[in-house]
Amino acid sequence: MHACYATISIFILLISSTHSVNTRQPDPHLRAANQFLPPQNAARASLRMRPLVWDAKLARYAQSYANQRRYDCDLKHSNGPYGENIFWGSGSGWTPAQAAAAWVSERKWYAYWSNSCAQDQECGHYTQIVWNRTERIGCARVDCFRGRGVFMTCNYDPPGNFIGERPY
Ligand SMILES: *[C@@H]1O[C@H](CO)[C@@H](O)[C@H](O)[C@H]1NC(C)=O
Repeated sequence: MHACYATISIFILLISSTHSVNTRQPDPHLRAANQFLPPQNAARASLRMRPLVWDAKLARYAQSYANQRRYDCDLKHSNGPYGENIFWGSGSGWTPAQAAAAWVSERKWYAYWSNSCAQDQECGHYTQIVWNRTERIGCARVDCFRGRGVFMTCNYDPPGNFIGERPY
């Protein structure tokens, strides 16, 4: 399987994974929150930053956009008013925790002193996650039609990744 992800400053990365999980629990939205949040709030906690709070309105926005993407599974942004990290993976096993962990793993490419990513690397998903002024998050995951893969999206409010500003 492979995956791509993009943040509001569009850039594509490939990662590999053989991990596959598919468990069923009663409330998919709550379960999604419980998977999307911990890796992202752990990244914030390691900077002594307050945690992102799950927001139902953002989660509805994310779900409604993810539902539109089910037909093509394209790694395209919604171009809405929020910060946005998106993820695409082939096959069906991708979990919210994997998407969140993939974004957070860009931490190694972010250089605070120059406020830039390592050359030819992407770190914008990470800087959105640790954007200090961002308070709320809502995310969604869909299995796309006709085996086109898995699409996931998280929206952030207030948005981050303002060019020329540091996340914290
Ligand atoms: C984040 O913002 C808060 C409130 O303005 C501030 O007290 C805190 O020091 C900031 N955290 C970081 C890591 O910059």
